[in-house]
Amino acid sequence: LKVGILISGRGSNMAALVEAAQDPAFPAEICCVLSNRPDAKGLDFARARGIPAVVVDHKAHASKAEFEAAVIDALVAHGVDFVCLAGFMRIVSPAFIERWHNRLINIHPSLLPSYKGLHTHERAIADGVKLAGCTVHFVRAEMDAGPIVAQAAVPVVAGDTPDSLAARILTAEHRLYPLAVRLIAEGKAKITGERVEIAPGAVD
Ligand code: GRF
Repeated sequence: LKVGILISGRGSNMAALVEAAQDPAFPAEICCVLSNRPDAKGLDFARARGIPAVVVDHKAHASKAEFEAAVIDALVAHGVDFVCLAGFMRIVSPAFIERWHNRLINIHPSLLPSYKGLHTHERAIADGVKLAGCTVHFVRAEMDAGPIVAQAAVPVVAGDTPDSLAARILTAEHRLYPLAVRLIAEGKAKITGERVEIAPGAVD
């Protein structure tokens, strides 16, 4: 896979993917990192690793369609054929999703289909659930829906705050996202229709 990563800020999941891909045995290449915000911290990390870091500022485009056309042009110019959303804070349009049909994945900090949307950690704590986690899924027009590729669970413990739970989940995210990309690149996570099948033995 020739991967492009879309970010808006910190970019710690992007960094985890970049680091995983530095292993020559990793079956995917990170071709570029693209941010809609010029001040995204993650851009510096990508540049320091010699990965093309592109800014497509949504504020510099008259419409969402023009912004997304510029994003697509930049990705294509870098040879991207698979896109990972990693803290990209723009809702992508159905046309964008169609352009990357089954080649566009996202990471969300909850065990989907529970806790779609924002403030997932706060809501999980308020509900008293004892397991929280993260999900990598193919992107569909409905937000935080779409075929699930991989999930990781973490405990919720006494005294957890949204921040402490977020940090525990983020650590799991940094392992999960590279795993999900690897499974897809190796053909061990295959999407058929609206379901992803994981090859037996592909994950311990
Ligand atoms: C992560 O929690 C991710 O699940 C969510 O946004 C956050 C992005 O963090 N979609 P980072 O920019 O990857 O550090």
